[in-house]
Amino acid sequence: MAKRILVTSALPYANGSIHLGHLVEYIQTDIWVRAQKMFGHEVHYVCADDTHGTPVMLKAEQENISPVQLIKRVHEEHSQDFDNFSIRFDNYYTTNSPENRQLCEEIFSSLSDAGLIDEKEVEQFYDPIKQMFLPDRYVKGTCPKCNAPDQYGDSCEVCGATYSTTELIAPYSTVSGAKPDRKTSSHLFFKLSDERCENYLREFTQNTDRLQPEAANKMKEWLGEIGEAKLSDWDISRDAPYFGFPIPGTNETKFFYVWLDAPVGYFGSFLNYLTSDQSLNLANLTQDFLRPGGETELIHFIGKDILYFHALFWPAMLKFSGFRTPTKIFAHGFLTVNGQKMSKSRGTFITARSFLESGLEPEWLRYYYAAKLNDSMEDIDLNLADFMARVNSDLVGKYINIASRSANFLTKKFDGKLSSVSMTDDEIVQYFYSCSKNVADAFESRQYSKGIREIMSLADRANSYIDKQRPWELAKSESDSEKLHEVCSIAINLFKILTVYLKPVLPTLASKVEEFLDVDSLQWSDSKKCLPMAHVIKPYKHLMGRIDPKLIDKLISLNTQKPIQSKTQSNKPNSKKMTAEKTTVESTTDITIDAFNNVDLRVGRIIEAEHVEGADKLVRLKIDLGDKQRQVFAGIKSAYDPKDLKEKLVVVVANLKPRKMRFGESQGMVLAASSEDSGIFLISPESGAAPGMRVK
Ligand code: MSP
Ligand code: ZN
Repeated sequence: MAKRILVTSALPYANGSIHLGHLVEYIQTDIWVRAQKMFGHEVHYVCADDTHGTPVMLKAEQENISPVQLIKRVHEEHSQDFDNFSIRFDNYYTTNSPENRQLCEEIFSSLSDAGLIDEKEVEQFYDPIKQMFLPDRYVKGTCPKCNAPDQYGDSCEVCGATYSTTELIAPYSTVSGAKPDRKTSSHLFFKLSDERCENYLREFTQNTDRLQPEAANKMKEWLGEIGEAKLSDWDISRDAPYFGFPIPGTNETKFFYVWLDAPVGYFGSFLNYLTSDQSLNLANLTQDFLRPGGETELIHFIGKDILYFHALFWPAMLKFSGFRTPTKIFAHGFLTVNGQKMSKSRGTFITARSFLESGLEPEWLRYYYAAKLNDSMEDIDLNLADFMARVNSDLVGKYINIASRSANFLTKKFDGKLSSVSMTDDEIVQYFYSCSKNVADAFESRQYSKGIREIMSLADRANSYIDKQRPWELAKSESDSEKLHEVCSIAINLFKILTVYLKPVLPTLASKVEEFLDVDSLQWSDSKKCLPMAHVIKPYKHLMGRIDPKLIDKLISLNTQKPIQSKTQSNKPNSKKMTAEKTTVESTTDITIDAFNNVDLRVGRIIEAEHVEGADKLVRLKIDLGDKQRQVFAGIKSAYDPKDLKEKLVVVVANLKPRKMRFGESQGMVLAASSEDSGIFLISPESGAAPGMRVK
């Protein structure tokens, strides 16, 4: 029986570009949706930009445009990126929509009626200059343990200590630079600690069908033992100024927290889709998919970092406001590139756009991800050398090769016409048919890597079949003509079946193949059918090329030269803070004041300077920074004699990550001007400046 499914991918934030990490999710979902559609199920796949919150508001302000202008521009970019990677949403919308607002208001009012909304006083940092409450990630200060400057509120990147934001020494707002006050304000809370919620969430998460085992275990941790009541109430309001939906009855002084309206955006996008497509029955489909009861399914694909929101807050919100709750939540792991976290300085923080600009084909990436993905929450690695090898050997060397080896004989010797002998009973054809269910199951259960292994072993089989039949030998003698015709026709049929199997992963390539074979859009049932006897195919045209290693180099260089972008701030409360690496300034293009402020420049006085044994460029400096001393190895030997350096004032980058060198640890950097051929000139403050002063 045909299933009826509403599928979503998480809504990307509207303050940053789509990158290869995001694409893990959208490609994973898109493959699943395409497979389901090929199986004949009714699937609606919706998504949207996640547009609200402080980061979007501040970013728009920095760019001197309104938040609405910003999210409009980003919506266009994101839509284009998704389109380029063949992510085919049935609707790609925005959370800043009338549909979403109305749904949020309805949910909120139902939760209030159910007695699940509470009001409590909350003390928070407040920026007296910007006159706004500051989310913790906008407050920095000096580490209370090691005195490193400019550390975020919860942990120090220099010494690794963790502490609470209130312990920071000399805290400052990264928005205005002002010293923040502590101020209280009343907030609205969703009472997750209420017995009803707790009981419901236990039941929700114990259903093994709904969550992966790893996710279910996480939930157990979060919920604790029965009676332990570990959940705290969830703060769902934010004070003005805030870019979001005003909470009814608060006179626009309070807004829904972005994480309240974001998941509701799934439904907002669905409603918008129903009203924009006349062929869909709005009332019926709304009832069928958004309200409880009936046989439809609601399936969310998400990254493991947002499991908490999707498996706790969201189902509880839906349950107690009379909406359908998620049928399944599929969480995936994070992308690493060459075994490491994506990093701007290594050039591996790769945007979707730069991938295209480098000349790489989106379907190469889709294939590689499919070859790596499974149903677990493990991270997946994009190893660029392996990526190239895999695509070249599997896709081109195995799969495409089948068509290129057999099609030319058909065109040249038989005018493109396939044999009139039935192929269906042939052993190898039968074998290819028989794998249809296994491959379908692999897609269904999100074990794509298993499916791809199966498909590639079929491709190997097809190639050994051709090797054994030796069409190039058969073509030499007229008497073998019939045999040649049969062999090549079988090979083309095998190629067609493989194309069906690969179609969810490689839709663009599949459509080129459909054109070459001159057939209608292939469905899953075509994996158990041969092309009609005496069917005529078109002459073979190039279908897909190999990855040239130069393209990979270009990709890395495109991402290394990228100017530092204003930080993509995450709205996730526990998200890891920016590392020093991510904020490295790599170009002379515009940066934000925020990025500049991240560099802690201090006046220093050189107190010792000496040659370094065995190093031909370095001078070892000991520099007084006022309250502390630093050892710095500077590459200035060609221009300065150490004895001339003593007592000199310099400018030091004081928060550079210490670096272990052969000669000892370098704990900073001195600024100097230089060019190719004119030597090195230390930057020195006017006299009067004292060690430790901040340079701005
Ligand atoms: N806006 C929220 C989601 C709201 S859903 C109601 C958000 N946005 S995001 O842009 O940060 O991430 C969107 C999706 O991409 C998330 O599911 C996230 O897990 C996923 N990924 C973001 N970076 C990723 C990797 N590096 N690797 C794999 N997935 C990643 O979260
Ligand atoms: Zn510290």
